[in-house]
Amino acid sequence: MPQLASRRPRAPEVALRVSGALRRRMRRPQPPLILPAVTGAIHPDDDMYHPEDVDGAHYARVGASAIGAIERALAAAGRSFADVGSCLDMPCGYGRVLRLLAQQIAPERITACDINRQAIRFCAQEFGVTPLRSTPSLDRMRLGRHDLIWCGSLVTHLDEQRAGELLRSFTGALEPGGIAIVTIHAEPPAMGEFAPRRDEIARALGEHGHLHIPYEGALFAYGHAWHTPDHIRRAFAAASGDSVRLVSHDPRGWDEHQDVLAFRREP
Ligand SMILES: C[S@@+](CC[C@H](N)C(=O)[O-])C[C@H]1O[C@@H](n2cnc3c(N)ncnc32)[C@H](O)[C@@H]1O
Repeated sequence: MPQLASRRPRAPEVALRVSGALRRRMRRPQPPLILPAVTGAIHPDDDMYHPEDVDGAHYARVGASAIGAIERALAAAGRSFADVGSCLDMPCGYGRVLRLLAQQIAPERITACDINRQAIRFCAQEFGVTPLRSTPSLDRMRLGRHDLIWCGSLVTHLDEQRAGELLRSFTGALEPGGIAIVTIHAEPPAMGEFAPRRDEIARALGEHGHLHIPYEGALFAYGHAWHTPDHIRRAFAAASGDSVRLVSHDPRGWDEHQDVLAFRREP
């Protein structure tokens, strides 16, 4: 697996993360945010929300864009929100997409899964969905059985091994004919933190089809990841024993940023 900055967390980094988590836990709780553009409250710890987005228009637009991408992917597979009996949103975070998904699919049919306990609790309380706590290991997870899995921005953080484990777990969680929608960073970044490494990233994508750069001090293999659509297609085929097939690829389909890949488990 190519890694540009592979390193184990050193003890001081671990200590810093633990003390940061403790500080966050002890801090006085802030009230939820109610913003004109956003459906439902935003949790004060939702780091998908940025304070300069004063009325929440950007936050709302990203959520709505995901719903559009899911709708197109379902249509490509000959399905629609109306025939989804059970849906898994993993990772749900604090519900940036989930709050709108719950307007398309009855909340009691939605499972909200994340490793962040506070986030799934919030989603359950605020949007009436069923919470499910994830684990750092994504292998052989018990995720229930679903007609639709929405996986917005998790593969974008995983190394090869954990991405494969997640896709294997998704295979077991799909009903026959069920659809798993996975988003990826498919292009080297033109802006932001990793833009200076654009050429290296492009080279790794060309040579290997993927690249993972771990976050400094991450407690488990978590970081920033890029994949070619074809790499994910092959990884899902391998993880599922060829029982899961690509049905659509929507380049930059989520907020003109992440590519959206939809897969169907063979009936
Ligand atoms: C970039 S956020 C995306 C959240 C949400 N999909 C959204 O669009 O707002 C990534 C999420 O992955 C979650 N996560 C990280 N590791 C995870 C794991 N092993 N299982 C489930 N969720 C995980 C994080 O807690 C975080 O909420």
